[in-house]
Amino acid sequence: MSTPPTATGTASIERLPMTLPRLAEKKRLGEAIVMVTAYDFPGARVAEEAGVDLVLVGDSAGQVVLGYESTVPVSVDEMLMLSSAVRRGLRTPLLVGDLPFGSYEASDEQAVATAQRFVKQAGCDAVKLERGGSSVARTRAIVQAGIPVMGHVGLTPQTATALGGYRAQGRTAERALVVARDAVALQDAGCFSLVFEAIPAAVATELMPRLQIPVIGIGAGDAVDGQVLVFHDLLGIGDGMAPRFVKRYAELRGEMVGAVRAFAEDVRAGRFPKAEHTYSIDPEELSGFRAGIADIEGPYPSSSGSSTVARRQT
Ligand code: KIV
Repeated sequence: MSTPPTATGTASIERLPMTLPRLAEKKRLGEAIVMVTAYDFPGARVAEEAGVDLVLVGDSAGQVVLGYESTVPVSVDEMLMLSSAVRRGLRTPLLVGDLPFGSYEASDEQAVATAQRFVKQAGCDAVKLERGGSSVARTRAIVQAGIPVMGHVGLTPQTATALGGYRAQGRTAERALVVARDAVALQDAGCFSLVFEAIPAAVATELMPRLQIPVIGIGAGDAVDGQVLVFHDLLGIGDGMAPRFVKRYAELRGEMVGAVRAFAEDVRAGRFPKAEHTYSIDPEELSGFRAGIADIEGPYPSSSGSSTVARRQT
């Protein structure tokens, strides 16, 4: 039986790294594209092993790992730290870094400088920025500087306040046309791919024939070329309400709380650690140590005169 051709070569244990031509080829072959977000090294290892095509270090990090109310406060330095950790955990998926709010809108120069930091300092393969409007010119500038750009239209969380909140976009003919114009303008500006977030499936379906680049949806139906979910949403790690477009594939938070609680109970009940969790020392060495420790006086006096032990206890 012959193996069907795929954009990443014939099925083999060693997957080839995802590239922009391979991504475009996946679209041409009608192969679904899979993207997840990741924010740290273990998350990246999971994404790598699960065989996803793209990993996005989304500024959703602001809410799911940094505890902000929205994505707006996220800084470039925070994103670079998270992106670098993800880079160290990835080999095959294409790594996309999300440019945070306020790091690219002011000028083409600002946009290019920020995108360059994501590539040079964090090792990202590409960057993502939100909206149409001024982001179209910023996209063109970044692409001209040699950095691939993913666009993002529909619900754009960085400007959710201006959009009337975290709600689906393009639900009137007028608003759907705004999404359509933004998508086509971003494609023309050189985006290699687009994210459609929270738009009616029927609007996405109408738009797809107008777009030659891969479109990855999140709450945009199944007519798009691929799907993305936030890591913590799909694994059930967060404790808030998930948006309508989320499908949970696990409920890890309950398991995590249960495991930490069991640890706490074991420690308090003296059930942990046991012999198998401790290190041994040769009996002769132990005798020598016991003889030697008699000469060591303690507790040590601190500079203020009170002992370290006493200070810890207060
Ligand atoms: O920040 C993010 O995680 C995103 C995805 C939802 C596409 O932009």
